[in-house]
Amino acid sequence: MRHQRTSSSSLPSVLNHVARRRQYRSLLIAGVILLVLATIWLRDSIGVVGFGRGPHSQGHLPSANKESASDGKTDAPSPPPSTEPAIQTAQHTTEPMRPSTTPPSTKFSPHSSTPTTLQVSETGTQTPHPTPTADSLIPPKIWQILLPKYPGKEKPPTDPKSLEETQSWTSLNPNSNYTLIDQHAANAFVRSHFSHSNPSLVELYNTLPNVGMKSDLLRYLLLDIEGGVYSDIDTVALKPISSWIPAHLRSKVKLVVGIEFDRRDGGGWVDITHWVQLCQWTIAAAPGHPVFGKMVERVQRSLAELSESYRVPVAELKPSSYEVMNSTGPAAWTDVVFEMLQGYDETLKDTKDLSFMTEPRLIGDILVLTVDGFGMGQNHSNSTNDGSVPEVALVNHLFRGSWRGD
Ligand SMILES: *[C@@H]1O[C@H](CO)[C@@H](O)[C@H](O)[C@H]1NC(C)=O
Ligand SMILES: *[C@@H]1O[C@H](CO)[C@@H](O)[C@H](O)[C@H]1NC(C)=O
Ligand SMILES: *[C@@H]1O[C@H](CO)[C@@H](O)[C@H](O)[C@H]1NC(C)=O
Ligand SMILES: *[C@@H]1O[C@H](CO)[C@@H](O)[C@H](O)[C@H]1NC(C)=O
Repeated sequence: MRHQRTSSSSLPSVLNHVARRRQYRSLLIAGVILLVLATIWLRDSIGVVGFGRGPHSQGHLPSANKESASDGKTDAPSPPPSTEPAIQTAQHTTEPMRPSTTPPSTKFSPHSSTPTTLQVSETGTQTPHPTPTADSLIPPKIWQILLPKYPGKEKPPTDPKSLEETQSWTSLNPNSNYTLIDQHAANAFVRSHFSHSNPSLVELYNTLPNVGMKSDLLRYLLLDIEGGVYSDIDTVALKPISSWIPAHLRSKVKLVVGIEFDRRDGGGWVDITHWVQLCQWTIAAAPGHPVFGKMVERVQRSLAELSESYRVPVAELKPSSYEVMNSTGPAAWTDVVFEMLQGYDETLKDTKDLSFMTEPRLIGDILVLTVDGFGMGQNHSNSTNDGSVPEVALVNHLFRGSWRGD
């Protein structure tokens, strides 16, 4: 038909027609291009909504998208090169490898967003994407212990100054269950959980001659039964607990320990027998971690040995500070944790193999932090001690050493 019409037209009109067809075609092409552009744009903006599902369903986007979930912004912008939300990286003080994209606004905002996510996951109304592997295995509980130094005598009430630092824990972790355990709560806890399963442990706890030893043993029992974070009352929380474990490790870590002493190339210290000694003024753990059962056995064995060598019952021991450290305290803790680490990694021969760590190490289910993680501000072990607070510091121990004294 068309052909016919063309052929029947005069030459100029044919040319005219061809020209018009060209025009039409370029108009059409332009239209198609516009359409393609529009589609791309549309897909992008839809992508903002759907994007969340992709990474989440792969299960390795952090839960703590607690942090990002509430301000979906972190997922949205298409250009960021990394799939992980910037907030994570910023907070992931323990994640040294990523170039820090530190969004300045995220500093302390995330905590307030945590409750939203908790509610969301409970009601299940908002988030269709499951994040089963992303949640920390360490429950949101904070434990601190305040036992009287002289349990017999009725001492004046607790100096409120000794509790000044506790609010750093509650304010940085508004969604954790914070519990300060006093003597009565401690006795009740030990009795109720162990009087049937392990009566001799209850007796041992009750007869421990030293408040430091009681506090030591109690933290292992609390974390064994309840899990969470234990920290001495003379520690200052520096980072929300939800940020302690790098997002991609959260489904693996069941115990977080920090280094106190690292002899490195230098000499040793009086009373420190390990090349690298772990601290137990702060410990994070999933409940039931086997390290605590082993630690309780160690405590029982050490005290039996001390009792035997001094030929007095445990209640009458007058342990030196080294004996405290090596029966219930950090030296014993280091022995027990290190033995577990060796079980996970045969190449570990001596605590010296943990020396000179520059970033946290995951060994089995145990995350070992560098000295600055729990031990910043010390004048040894290459702890940061210039008045600054390093990015990787999670806790600042003030070393009031309430248990030492006489
Ligand atoms: C927090 O502690 C209270 C009181 O001990 C308890 O009733 C509650 O179940 C705890 N919540 C969590 C999440 O553990
Ligand atoms: C530390 O305690 C363990 C276990 O009781 C014991 O075998 C070891 O000899 C003690 N170390 C020192 C240096 O006393
Ligand atoms: C390190 O600190 C201890 C006490 O905390 C102090 O006795 C010692 O002199 C300090 N050492 C140096 C080199 O500053
Ligand atoms: C000590 O730590 C700093 C960073 O905190 C590091 O730059 C330095 O290399 C470390 N020193 C040694 C001897 O490893």
